Amino acid sequence: MPIKAIRHLRRMRGGAQAHLVEADDGHCYVVKFLNNAQHRRIVVNEAVGSMLLEALALPTPAWEFIELPREIWREHPEMAVELGSRRQPPEEGWHFGSRYPGDPATMAVYDFLPDTLLPKVANLTDFLGALVFDKWVGNADARQAIFFRARLREWNRDEPVHPRKLGFVSVMIDHGFAFNGPHWEYVDAPLQGLYLRKQVYESVRSLEDFQPWLDRVVHFPEELLDRVWRRIPPAWIAGDEEPFERLLEMLLWRRRRVPDLIADLRDLRASLFPNWR
Ligand SMILES: Nc1ncnc2c1ncn2[C@@H]1O[C@H](COP(=O)(O)OP(=O)(O)O)[C@@H](O)[C@H]1O
Ligand SMILES: [Mg+2]
Repeated sequence: MPIKAIRHLRRMRGGAQAHLVEADDGHCYVVKFLNNAQHRRIVVNEAVGSMLLEALALPTPAWEFIELPREIWREHPEMAVELGSRRQPPEEGWHFGSRYPGDPATMAVYDFLPDTLLPKVANLTDFLGALVFDKWVGNADARQAIFFRARLREWNRDEPVHPRKLGFVSVMIDHGFAFNGPHWEYVDAPLQGLYLRKQVYESVRSLEDFQPWLDRVVHFPEELLDRVWRRIPPAWIAGDEEPFERLLEMLLWRRRRVPDLIADLRDLRASLFPNWR
């Protein structure tokens, strides 16, 4: 079931024209509208991407379906989709909300970290898992993540650290251009889906470094994908059911191709993995 926005906070950067809102569950969410500036398939991609990342045990924000009551956007005319000189308020219905990892008034969230801080990120190897995911879903965009300081135990459950230890964590966001965005196709250009700071790939010595994510994709259970399908609101894919079904069928079929897609990248751009001999 959806939760409701109760307060508009600000507009965010980016092509989908997302907005930060406070919701009635006490959390804040970066919301992409169903009628966003790009395409309604973008929010489907966000929800599918989030569910797949969760299933692969990769860090991604909690997410919810969000309703944006009229009172909220009436008071904030900037809370609209801008298409040229036209402004369109959010459609009625459910939108995609990506949870802000804390209180935006006191917690800084960064889109980038300077190169000197990047090695200090506690879960940097999750970028290798993210590459596996991005190859699988044919993410046509560069990999995007947010960074913030947090209790490591809360975000990095596998690591045996003191419950109060703080550090930088990275969390994967922006899956609007999975499946080549509005096109719902798999393009597989070798260099797509990469994170722009190449240090995150430096540690790779072989295909084994992409485990356990590679195996999780290759053996991804079909039932789980059915569950993903059932959680997508019918209104989001109305009239688009067949292409959506084909998209997910292809996704199942291409599970076993993912190791080759990574090997292809390595063949094309060996400099990306200086320690892979
Ligand atoms: N869960 C989140 N928590 C904090 N900030 C976020 C979150 N999701 C997105 N953002 C911020 O909002 C911006 C826009 O979101 P993004 O998903 O990248 O949209 P776009 O498709 O428009 O690029 C990001 O650059 C990031 O700064
Ligand atoms: Mg973005």
